[in-house]
Amino acid sequence: MDIQNLRFASRFDGISGSAIREIFKLLAVPGMISFAGGNPAASALPDGTCAELAKELLLDKGKTLLQYGATEGYAPLRESLVPYLKDRFSFDCAQDEILPVTGSTQAMDLLCKALIDPGDKVVVENPTFLGNMQAIRLYQAQLLPVDSDGDGIRVDELEEVFKKEHPKMLYIIPTFQNPTGRTLSLERRKKIAALASQYGVVIAEDDPYRDLRYAGQELPSIKSFDTEGWVAFMGSFSKVISPGLRVGFLAADKALLRKCTIGKQSSDVHTANLNQAIVDAYLRRGLLAPHVKEICLSYAQQMNTMLGLLDKCGGVARYTTPQGGLFIFAELNEGMDAVKLLSKCVDSGVAYVPGTYFYPNGGHENTLRLNFSMCSVDQIRQGMEKLNRVFSENA
Ligand SMILES: Cc1ncc(COP(=O)(O)O)c(C=O)c1O
Repeated sequence: MDIQNLRFASRFDGISGSAIREIFKLLAVPGMISFAGGNPAASALPDGTCAELAKELLLDKGKTLLQYGATEGYAPLRESLVPYLKDRFSFDCAQDEILPVTGSTQAMDLLCKALIDPGDKVVVENPTFLGNMQAIRLYQAQLLPVDSDGDGIRVDELEEVFKKEHPKMLYIIPTFQNPTGRTLSLERRKKIAALASQYGVVIAEDDPYRDLRYAGQELPSIKSFDTEGWVAFMGSFSKVISPGLRVGFLAADKALLRKCTIGKQSSDVHTANLNQAIVDAYLRRGLLAPHVKEICLSYAQQMNTMLGLLDKCGGVARYTTPQGGLFIFAELNEGMDAVKLLSKCVDSGVAYVPGTYFYPNGGHENTLRLNFSMCSVDQIRQGMEKLNRVFSENA
């Protein structure tokens, strides 16, 4: 039989993932100034330290690290995550309420595996992170987008949706959101924790950017206001140490975490022991804080350069002014189309991601997401000049 007749699982119906993958290919085009990605800067990846740690760890306990490990995670890492969570995210958590995972992407996948039946409703911010929107779709959930404003997701609308639609889960990125860069206010964090208990909705709180703060005051996590266990917290070391290590964690109610652990057994058995041990060493030896401090210095400069130039960029009606993270979200004048303009921008040597892809129901064609971490200040100046030229000509 012709392989063309192969029938794929219905969970893939309507899922292509192609649009944005095409844009990411542009990262590799020589000379292209790409504001499209979301990777850490190459200079922010601590290859030397990781090499030293890997060698030391392998010489010291190589036989253990190279053997199969527990699905529940590398015990020393779970131990060092307890004070880290308290210090950085303001919540108390026991070791058996923490599951190290293969990037926080896996935490989202496991939460969906544990909770979502086809047709279940999941609330997301409008717009939201494309990767996790895709994960939720693959479990055949119905996405319910709720708009956000300068203070994050609109909690008045959210309560209405909780009341009327009885969703299973809310997926939310409260700090330096991807793609908007916005941060959820303190009041709304408290309110969301209360709404979760009131309406019985699991909150999947995704906070990978928190430590990349360049201005303003830190806020406690939504989970820190959770008294009944409705908030499942997903963290990641991708943006502060290395995405290639694929180490993140899920902190959740024990019964929910147990289901996720069983789900993880059939995904990858466990997260790579050596990588968990490297992250553990970062936490245990106090290596993370100085590293983050150093990378934030240059990211702050890059972001501020881009913000300053956006102010003078033709065709740009408004844009967010994040206090951290990796992204700025811009809105072009009404009638301008960031999807169509992308090919002109690419022709002139600069790329971004059109904002429409981050909206579950599309639309908002005049929006775009700009990343500043992967370009030097000089490249940001050149790229913004190119954007200014194309947008001004088409405003
Ligand atoms: C909001 C958000 N969540 C999760 C991830 C993925 O993180 P990880 O590398 O830990 O899987 C990203 C990566 O871009 C992200 O922007």
